[in-house]
Order: sequence, then structure tokens, then C-alpha cells
Amino acid sequence: MFNLPPLPYEPTALEPHMSKETLAFHHGKHHAAYIKNMNAALAERADAPKTVEGVVQLAVREGNKKLFNNAAQTWNHGFFWQSMTPTPQGDPQGDLKLAIEKAFGSLTAFREQFVAQGVGHFASGWVWLVSDKSGAVKLVDLHDADTPITEIGTTPLLVCDVWEHAYYIDYRNERPKFVTAFIEKLANWRFAEAQYDAARKGEDGWQFPT
Ligand SMILES: [Fe+2]
Repeated sequence: MFNLPPLPYEPTALEPHMSKETLAFHHGKHHAAYIKNMNAALAERADAPKTVEGVVQLAVREGNKKLFNNAAQTWNHGFFWQSMTPTPQGDPQGDLKLAIEKAFGSLTAFREQFVAQGVGHFASGWVWLVSDKSGAVKLVDLHDADTPITEIGTTPLLVCDVWEHAYYIDYRNERPKFVTAFIEKLANWRFAEAQYDAARKGEDGWQFPT
């Protein structure tokens, strides 16, 4: 059985960019439901993995789409909460800053590309900044519950949830405003930098709490 971890900040802490009401639904209803559904699917199984990462891998091996959707959404949302911070962090620093500049030309160009990819993504999904073991970074947008943790050698650094439930209360249909606020005001660059260090050391990085 897995539990819903508390948010790493107060529910009002991300205002005005993300409201208490959005978090009440997104964390308290949507994320909680994914965990409840995953637990229900695992309840009868003696071989249920002890980690959410293990459940995701099990679902992939078995081609169990329902279990995958709930386990991957459990993990993705846990990572999403870590990807935001109420403490403004300006720009990425150090080696991650250099890697982003190498990949995108500049931090400004990176932010523009991040917003464009989030806005251009059709329907529900996620925009991920990821790294490989060599330290090369790129943006990938994935549909529905898909997650980069199923890709060997890929480490996620930062993610923005672009499902409508992430922004509709605060921004209605204006996804561009939401994605812009995420990357300019909420992005947790100290977290992304720690993930980047882990990627290059071949370490796992953030794991869903057990
Ligand atoms: Fe979500």
C-alpha cells in the first residue's frame, strides 16, 4: 500500500501562480485517486513491488495499461510537486545552466521552447526536461501517463503537467499563461540541479516515498 505524500509546501505557497483550490483538487483528488486505484490493483497480488518505480516497471513488463496509468501518474505527480517551489530561484546554475545553453542556445531560448512544447502538446500530457548519462539535456513531451523513467539511461530533471486539471481553475483555457508561469516563476531549479548531478553519476535521483 502506498500513501499520498504531503505537498512539500503549504497549499497557499504557490499563489498567485497556482491556487490553493487547484492544489486541493490536483493533489487531494486527482493524485490521491491514482494512488488509490494503484493500491486497489495491487491488493490481491503477493508479488506487489515495494516501490512505485517497481510497480511502473511491472506494469510495463506485463503490458498492464490500467496499472501503468495509475502507477505512472502516481510517480509523475510526485515528481511534479518537487518540480515547483514557492521560493523564486531565478535561473538554473552551474553545469545544468551550461548544458541548457549548449542544447538550446540560451536560457531565454530554452524557456521559449519549453512554453512552445507545452502549448503545442495535443491534449493531456507532460513536458519533461531530461538528461542522459553524458549530461546532454533535451525536452520531451509525453502523452497521458507516459513517463521518462521507463527509458533506460534517461533521468528526468523537471516536469510541467499540462493536463487541463493542472491549470483550468486558475487559467481556464489559457495553457500558455500557465506554462509560462511554471517555467518563469515556479520551476525548482535547485531540485533540477540535484537531479542533473544524479544523472551524471548514474544514480537514481528522486524516488517516490515509500
Ligand atoms: Fe495532473
